[in-house]
Amino acid sequence: MTEGKARHIVLAARPHGRPQPSDFRLEDTAIPMPRAGQVLLRVQYLSLDPYMRGQMDDRKSYAKPVPLGGVMDGEAVATVIASHHPGYAEGDIVLAHTGWRTHALSDRADLRKLDPALAPVTTGLGVLGMPGFTAYGGLRVIVGQLAQLAGARAVGIAGGPAKCAYVQDELRFDAAIDHRDPDFSAQLTAACPNGIDVYFENVGGVLWQAVLPLLNTFARVPVCGLIAHYNGVDKGDGTDRLPATMRAILSKSLTVRGFINNEFAEQHYAAFLREVGAGIADGRIRYREDIVDGLEQAPAAFIGLLEGRNFGKLIVRVDA
Ligand SMILES: NC(=O)c1ccc[n+]([C@@H]2O[C@H](COP(=O)([O-])OP(=O)(O)OC[C@H]3O[C@@H](n4cnc5c(N)ncnc54)[C@H](OP(=O)(O)O)[C@@H]3O)[C@@H](O)[C@H]2O)c1
Repeated sequence: MTEGKARHIVLAARPHGRPQPSDFRLEDTAIPMPRAGQVLLRVQYLSLDPYMRGQMDDRKSYAKPVPLGGVMDGEAVATVIASHHPGYAEGDIVLAHTGWRTHALSDRADLRKLDPALAPVTTGLGVLGMPGFTAYGGLRVIVGQLAQLAGARAVGIAGGPAKCAYVQDELRFDAAIDHRDPDFSAQLTAACPNGIDVYFENVGGVLWQAVLPLLNTFARVPVCGLIAHYNGVDKGDGTDRLPATMRAILSKSLTVRGFINNEFAEQHYAAFLREVGAGIADGRIRYREDIVDGLEQAPAAFIGLLEGRNFGKLIVRVDA
């Protein structure tokens, strides 16, 4: 850091695909002075996270875009170096949304004190912070379990042999598959001989394509991230709607659930007959039928159905 100066990094240009160094600009600035109720922070550690790529685009998402010329957003571990707030003293270490800066002011709303005796302070940006809570919350809330703790077979996917060895040997996953291996899809299939009940989606792209055929009936897929799509450039011709579909599921927290009617029959069929039958009898439920005469008309009527020629429930009167 320049002595007596603060520095920050702004978004200089919006990337087209993979970000370039020229999309960022390092700027010198004055160290700000805290007012009453504020603290001045010196950043120790800045977290870099995949969501920041989305903020570099001018596109509506769950994270607000950074304006051109604006300081890049981000969370940091910082030390309080001046305090005009009774709740904080010089030397306190806090987690704060500072952005990509060496110094930042805060009025406390976003600060969380960190105790270095409990865990290394950097864990506040990772395993004991937002990313860790994302994994915990996504599994606990959406799936209802943490896979290995619940006794499930856990298969990890990572890029390269070193990361896979770590996942298997240190993290004790039952298997770890390298998504950069050309044989990835076959290896994943072999590692999941009984299919997949829960897939925690962090990536999208070719991983999703390999996982999709292995999903079991009633499998659950928390859609947490789609990093394989973040640098993608839409061809603009509407040919590939998968990235947009997955992005909508993620950014709008959509629940997408398929079903086949007979899954509900045992529990709900009797009530259906009772309630809908009563509705038809008293006219609250209206319906329309389209009846064609003669079995020989069935093929033409069926072809017409696929073209929308029927008006109402299509029925063939065979012998009445
Ligand atoms: N929904 C939420 O609230 C939330 C919160 C935090 C994170 N997320 C999402 O969770 C995912 C992981 O984030 P993280 O915070 O844990 O960060 P992270 O592990 O640091 O993510 C970076 C890693 O992603 C992998 N990667 C990068 N580009 C890839 C590509 N094109 N295809 C496949 N893998 C690629 C690389 O690992 P490999 O070498 O193993 O490929 C890279 O080291 C991201 O999609 C992120 O957006 C969501």
